[in-house]
Amino acid sequence: MYIYKAAVIGAGTMGAGIAQVITFSGLPVILKDINQEAVDRGLKTIRKIYQNRVDKGKMTASEMDQKMALVSGAVDYSGFADVDIVIEAVFEDVSVKQKLFHDLEAVCPESTILASNTSSLPLSAIASSSERPEKVVGLHFFNPAPVMKLVEVIPGLGTSQETIDDVTLFSESLRKIPIRVEECAGFLVNRLLLPYLNESAIALEEGAATAKEMDDAVIAFGLPMGPFTLFDLVGIDVSLKVADILYEAYGPRAKSAEIITALVKAGRYGLKSGSGFYEYGEGNPGALDSIIDQVGKKKGAGRNPFSVDRLIMPMINEAVISLQEGVASAADIDVAMLAGTGFPQEKGGPLHYADQIGVDTVLSSLEKLKEEHGARFWPAPMLKRMVVGGYLGQKTGKGFFQY
Ligand code: 3HC
Repeated sequence: MYIYKAAVIGAGTMGAGIAQVITFSGLPVILKDINQEAVDRGLKTIRKIYQNRVDKGKMTASEMDQKMALVSGAVDYSGFADVDIVIEAVFEDVSVKQKLFHDLEAVCPESTILASNTSSLPLSAIASSSERPEKVVGLHFFNPAPVMKLVEVIPGLGTSQETIDDVTLFSESLRKIPIRVEECAGFLVNRLLLPYLNESAIALEEGAATAKEMDDAVIAFGLPMGPFTLFDLVGIDVSLKVADILYEAYGPRAKSAEIITALVKAGRYGLKSGSGFYEYGEGNPGALDSIIDQVGKKKGAGRNPFSVDRLIMPMINEAVISLQEGVASAADIDVAMLAGTGFPQEKGGPLHYADQIGVDTVLSSLEKLKEEHGARFWPAPMLKRMVVGGYLGQKTGKGFFQY
């Protein structure tokens, strides 16, 4: 099915970013939210993204106007009678999304694809009250949507192959890299990012290093930004929501760091609220330290020295667990992390990196981290099988990949 017109519901950072990506590819899009103020804010976000391009000489002001003419704001469903795809990017609440999809079925043609940009809610649950589950699919963009190349395509239990094919082609037409991911909590990239982000927060609580020191260590490793900058970009409230969903699904190894809840309680959501792990604008220097003191004291701060392995190994471990579960292939896991998080190209993704440093090295690092910090570092069974079987990575010519 060719997509001639799209709609995005929810004009927040992600919704506006997705709408910008769609207009950039030349398609008309409706940007809908519940009130005009929210819609105007979304339109302003899109214009700002284009204005940046104009300022850099990457497009002319009249090209920007042409792109902006492709987006129309809406607070109701007029105009939805001929949309081919709707992408919702509203608040992460299953019942809100279920009701939204139900409403959409009443106003959209039967052929319309109903996509959700949910970061971790189960698609099958969102589709459960739908009369067209074959048309419901996950289409998960990454922040900032205009820049990050990855789109996770997540079928629910009732999604048809035709819908999967249609959204895959649609994502390619947006110049994105679609990767099919089997339905599971956190899908693929959030599932791998959360243990890494969470570990950085636990290390901060323990006083192992400052946020800036850990961010610098991660940048030296080759990622484009450190975990605390990423927390602030994604939103600490959003991260907590994802963390809760992962904890519900995976249990103790995914237990969220206390400081995340403390920051949300203090209204420090990250970039969008002016403060998070860092201060933006005037801010309140010292506020983070006192939150660390409150949370950290309970844990007996400062005992464990910091190494970047402490953050990267849980990411690799979760990649191996996801591989074991068949969430995606080894190659797709690596491409997803390169395109969705900027994992360093020269390291090739978490599984290629494991092959580079040695699967046995990964296993022994995880064993050591487990001794030092607890069972959340328990190595994936597949790692042990690979080591006893001689699949050590590049040095033995076989690991997650063949050499
Ligand atoms: N919107 C639009 N464009 C943006 C942008 C934004 N918010 N932020 C940066 N850009 C553009 C810049 O304009 C620039 O464009 P140009 O190449 O045309 O000049 C380009 O991106 C590079 O930006 P900068 O030079 O300012 O800075 P960096 O090179 O450091 O890149 C970054 C910024 C792309 C954000 C990079 O740091 C990065 O890739 N970070 C990792 C982000 C990440 O991991 N995202 C995934 C988060 S998880 C998620 O979203 C899932 C959700 O469910 C929670």
